[in-house]
Amino acid sequence: MSKLIKIFLDTANVEVIREIAGIYPIDGVTTNPSVLAKECDNVGDTLMSISKIIGEDRFLHVQTTAATAQEMFAQAKKMKAVFGANFYVKIPITEQGLKAITLCKNADINVTATAVFTPMQALLAAQSGADYVAPYINRIDNIVSDGVDVVAHISKLFSVQDVKTRILAASFKNVQQVYGTVANGAHAVTISGELCKELLFHPYTEKSLDDFRSDWEKKFGKREITDFI
Ligand code: E4P
Repeated sequence: MSKLIKIFLDTANVEVIREIAGIYPIDGVTTNPSVLAKECDNVGDTLMSISKIIGEDRFLHVQTTAATAQEMFAQAKKMKAVFGANFYVKIPITEQGLKAITLCKNADINVTATAVFTPMQALLAAQSGADYVAPYINRIDNIVSDGVDVVAHISKLFSVQDVKTRILAASFKNVQQVYGTVANGAHAVTISGELCKELLFHPYTEKSLDDFRSDWEKKFGKREITDFI
């Protein structure tokens, strides 16, 4: 079965990544400077550990910290040399960022344009060659706008203009936001480990399993299905 939507973990917490990636269909990890500052003291070691945990079949997105296009490009080249073909550099959607996106794409470095708040920012990133654009859903909601609606507009714009850049929706606080973005054209989402678990959890699923177990044990005790087969 082909996987249409990609799910990334938006964290640098190595234990969370190890646990969630061992269970859920995770396609990679995204980080940003705030996430790294929160989760680790040795950034290099943490990113190497994450890279090893996710392996060669998943993707690692790491944001630049530089201010100018040339510096962002230099950081992207250095990180690609370390993290390999599945590395994506996250570049903020600013004037220097646009220039850096072009430099990176000319050097065959995968790019995610980040901190996207509007469809026109997304279009400019796409025109500059970005592979992904990352609209920030909850931060958009927080400024009395509608993050899911922004994704819907980006999706429509990309579709009308036949733009191949994909939408990696980011900055989520709840399941409804995640559902809204994937139902409105996002190709990928990046979420916390906690939110990933919340996508799966439903109390009535738990109750149904309790009921099955209880009905079974009333009749068959501790025997299991395969004891009869
Ligand atoms: C993604 O890569 C973004 O940096 C991230 O999702 C932002 O999330 P926040 O708004 O919860 O900080």
